[in-house]
Amino acid sequence: MNDFTAPPLLQPALQLDAIRAQFPILGEVIHGKRLAYLDNAATTQKPEAVLHALDDYYRHANANVHRAVHELAARATTRYEAARDRIAAFFNTAREQIVFTRGTTESINLVARSFLQPRLQPGDEVLVTGMEHHSNIVPWQLAGAKTVAAPVLDDGSLDLDAWRALLSPRTRLVAVVQVSNSLGTINPIAEMVAEAKARGIPVLVDGAQAIAHTQVDLATLGADFYCCSAHKAYGPTGFGMLWARREHLEAMQPWQGGGDMIRTVSFGGSTWNEVPYKFEAGTPDISGAIGFAAALDWISGVGLAAIAAHEHELLEYGTEALMGIPGLRLIGTAADKAGILSFVLDQAHPHDVGSILDQEGVAVRTGHHCTMPLMERFGVPATVRASLAVYNGRDDIDQLAAALKKAARLLS
Ligand code: ALA
Repeated sequence: MNDFTAPPLLQPALQLDAIRAQFPILGEVIHGKRLAYLDNAATTQKPEAVLHALDDYYRHANANVHRAVHELAARATTRYEAARDRIAAFFNTAREQIVFTRGTTESINLVARSFLQPRLQPGDEVLVTGMEHHSNIVPWQLAGAKTVAAPVLDDGSLDLDAWRALLSPRTRLVAVVQVSNSLGTINPIAEMVAEAKARGIPVLVDGAQAIAHTQVDLATLGADFYCCSAHKAYGPTGFGMLWARREHLEAMQPWQGGGDMIRTVSFGGSTWNEVPYKFEAGTPDISGAIGFAAALDWISGVGLAAIAAHEHELLEYGTEALMGIPGLRLIGTAADKAGILSFVLDQAHPHDVGSILDQEGVAVRTGHHCTMPLMERFGVPATVRASLAVYNGRDDIDQLAAALKKAARLLS
C-alpha cells in the first residue's frame, strides 16, 4: 500500500497471528473494513486470559472480600489477595506497598491529598514537566501547590538542564511521566529520581503508559511513588495501583473513610487498618485486581523484551511510513521513544482526519490527549495519535497510511 521501502525485520518476529488470536475483539469488522486498532494509549484490548479470569471469578467465586466466613467469600478473598501477590511480584516489590485504586488518576490524587497537602507551606512547588497529563498537574493544584513545569524541547524530549535548574528549596515533590501519552517520549526517570533524591526531594512517577512496554522494577527505581492503570496493560478498566515507600504509607493519613480501612470505630474517634488496607475504603474492585494480575501474567508469558522489540520495530516502520505522507508533521521525534505516533496533517482538523480514518477501520485518538499545555507548546490545538500495542503489525500501519492518504485528498 505504501510507496516506501520497508526496512528489514531486525528482530525475530513475535508470533503475531497467535497473539492476535487471543484478542477476540480484533476480529470486529468496522464499517466493512478490518479493524486496525491503534488507540492503545487510551486503552488496550483484552486477551482471552483476562476475559477468562474475569468470567471465571464471577461464575465461581463472586462474594465480598475480608468479611464473611462462607466458602465463596473465602474463594473471593483468596483470589483477590493472590492477585496482590502476583502484581507485587511483577513489579518486584512487597505486597504491603501496593495500594489498589481506580487507576493512575486516583493514585495521584491520593498522594496529593494524603502526602503532599499536609506538608505544604505557602509558595511550595511541585516540579512537573511540560508533557504531563492533566492528571499529573491538576491534583497538585487542587492540593494547593504551585505547579512549575520544566520545558520540552522541539523534538519532544525533556530539557533536562532546565529541569535540573528548576529544582529548588521550594520543591516539595517531583512528579514526572515515564512515557508521554501524547508524544511517546521516554523520560530518563532513573537519572531524575537520583538527582531529586540527592536533594532530598521525593519523586512520583506516572507509569500509566510504561508498564505494558518496559519492565518496571520498583525495588531498584528509587522513587517514592509509582502509579499505573490496569486497562493500559491489557487489564480491565477502573482499576490500578499506587506503589509507595512503606514509610510514606505508614505516615500518610487515609483520604477516604469507610469499611475495611479501619481497625476500630467509635463515635469518639477511629483507628486505621494496617497498610495498604487503610487506603482501600469500601468494597474494592475485586475482579479488577484479578483481571490485572491475569494481564500481567499474560505480559510475562509473552515477555516484555519481545514486546518492546516488536513495538520498536513497528514504531520505526510507522515513522517512515508517515514521513512519506505529504503535509504530515510528526509531533514528538525524541531519540528515546515508545510506540506513539502523534501528528497533524496540513490544515485538516485532527477530528476530521480521525473520522475519515474510522471509516477506513482505523481507530486512533484525536484531541489534546489531556495534555493541553503540551499542545500549546507545539502550537497545535490537537493531534492525531496512533499508539501501538503488541498485537499491532505492519498491516495496521499500512492501513493507517493508506487511510491518511485518502484523508489528505478529501480534506485538501
Ligand atoms: N490517558 C489516556 C490517553 O492518553 C486516556 O488517551
